[in-house]
Amino acid sequence: MASTETPARDAVLVKYLNEAYGKEKQLEQNLTVLIGRAENHKTLKKGFQDHLKVTKNQARGLQQRIKALGGKAEISPELPGPEAATSAVSAVANVANRAVAMAKGPVQLLRGTGEADNMLRNVRDAFWNEAEEIGHYQVIESVAEKLKDRDTVRLAKQFRREEERFQKFLERQINTLVTQVVKEEVPASERSSSNGGTRRRRSTTRSTSSSNGSRSTSGSGSTSRSSSSSRSSSSRSRASSNGSSASPRKRSTTSSSNGRTSTKRKQAAQKAAATRARKSTRTSAKRTATSARTTAKKAGTTARKAGRAARSTAKAAARS
Ligand SMILES: [Fe+2]
Repeated sequence: MASTETPARDAVLVKYLNEAYGKEKQLEQNLTVLIGRAENHKTLKKGFQDHLKVTKNQARGLQQRIKALGGKAEISPELPGPEAATSAVSAVANVANRAVAMAKGPVQLLRGTGEADNMLRNVRDAFWNEAEEIGHYQVIESVAEKLKDRDTVRLAKQFRREEERFQKFLERQINTLVTQVVKEEVPASERSSSNGGTRRRRSTTRSTSSSNGSRSTSGSGSTSRSSSSSRSSSSRSRASSNGSSASPRKRSTTSSSNGRTSTKRKQAAQKAAATRARKSTRTSAKRTATSARTTAKKAGTTARKAGRAARSTAKAAARS
């Protein structure tokens, strides 16, 4: 039972302290299992072992604080620990702890697609378990401050910082495990084919990079393509005449490795070259004709001027 002098005040603190206690006892079990599963992860195993000691110490500290406030530490019936209490405060906390245990469940040993993946999932869950504990201690600290219970404030603050340190450790381990999972589950050739890799290919082998859909989103990429497309407009125009816009054109370019398409492109290029040659010939002939007409006009003008001059000279001679 809570203290008879301040029953309501202590009952509130005992309620929250007991929920944290139930969580600590649950995590004692989880950490014990995780230590056994971390044989291939030495740093992680050491971290679990260290935090198991911290967790047990926290459970003891909570138990003592609850007792000092006139309550009794307890956990859900599914977990080992102190016997279930009989007080009203303890009964409320017991229900809450049982709910927590049922919701979170035990460490899941067999899930995942591999050993690293399994451990990554367990560490991820350990990360949010720490977040939950941080939440417990944040609440206890705040309630204790309101009720001016300095001992409980000090205890909650210390335990919260311990959880935060372990959560930071887990965060670093997640990064390490993610690297392992990606290495195990994604072939090296695919690991390097990021958007960055696509951009690199685009700058060297345009036809290959066009197979990636991201090109249409890149301003520089589209600029490069538009300038080069004018050089081989024949094959492009054939592709785009399928009745659609960007994607069919991409498919046409993408299939450059296909022999049949390559032959078609060659034929199209030859046709384009022949067309250009014909146009060039016609243009050249037009220029020649225009030049000849201009020369003839000039010659006519000169002849007329000469005639007028001769006639003028003859008239002057006759007058004299
Ligand atoms: Fe803890």
